[in-house]
Amino acid sequence: MPSAADEKSPAARPVGFFDSGVGGRCVLDAFRRLCPLEKTVYLADTEHCPYGNRPPEEVLRLTEACVRRLLGRDCKMIVVACNTATAAAIDVLRAEYPDIPFVGMEPALKPAALTTRSGVIGILATAGTLRGRLYGETKARFAKDVKVVTAVADEFVRLVERGETSGPEVERIVRARVEPLLEAGADRIVLGCTHFPHLKPVIELVCAGRAEVVDSSEAVARQARRILASRGLLA
Ligand code: DGL
Repeated sequence: MPSAADEKSPAARPVGFFDSGVGGRCVLDAFRRLCPLEKTVYLADTEHCPYGNRPPEEVLRLTEACVRRLLGRDCKMIVVACNTATAAAIDVLRAEYPDIPFVGMEPALKPAALTTRSGVIGILATAGTLRGRLYGETKARFAKDVKVVTAVADEFVRLVERGETSGPEVERIVRARVEPLLEAGADRIVLGCTHFPHLKPVIELVCAGRAEVVDSSEAVARQARRILASRGLLA
């Protein structure tokens, strides 16, 4: 049993996660597998889901409200488990709360660009992520020598929120978005929205034999652990 003193130590505080909905749970699950001793709080802003097609200023406002709620729960670190919220808000959050470590979702262009054989990578994301500075910079930095094709897949978010992640209708919807990327020659399909890993089995089925699916949930969980360790905050 932890003593009262342990409970008060900064390391004993929870790690906060949030997303517009259930999407970010894939990052939460990866983190829990990696750090089973950590306490976690997950906030799903389902009242305002989806974020993907809202103006960046609005996503920033919603994101700030999520962060205030998580800080009200005494979180020691916050994982912005949403690519769209990261794109709209991560710089502002870091400036507003310099003492709180924030981990954001990085579009996984780098591993895709490093491993592609065809020289074409496909990105599935929301409109908000694709117009963000982070995506533009990551693309310029890591994917300048490959062709990048993109698809906005807002309907995937709605499917996942409704708990529809398999079956012929889901496969038809997924195929309609992914097929054009495969036809353009993509042999890597990057899941640039945290809702999409929930559809990974269907996306993999559609991509079978033609492309590998790249998911950054595990990498973000590892980054979260690294940051806790570097600040002496691991439970
Ligand atoms: N899960 C979110 C993301 O990673 C956004 C989904 C949405 O609300 O549009 O981008």
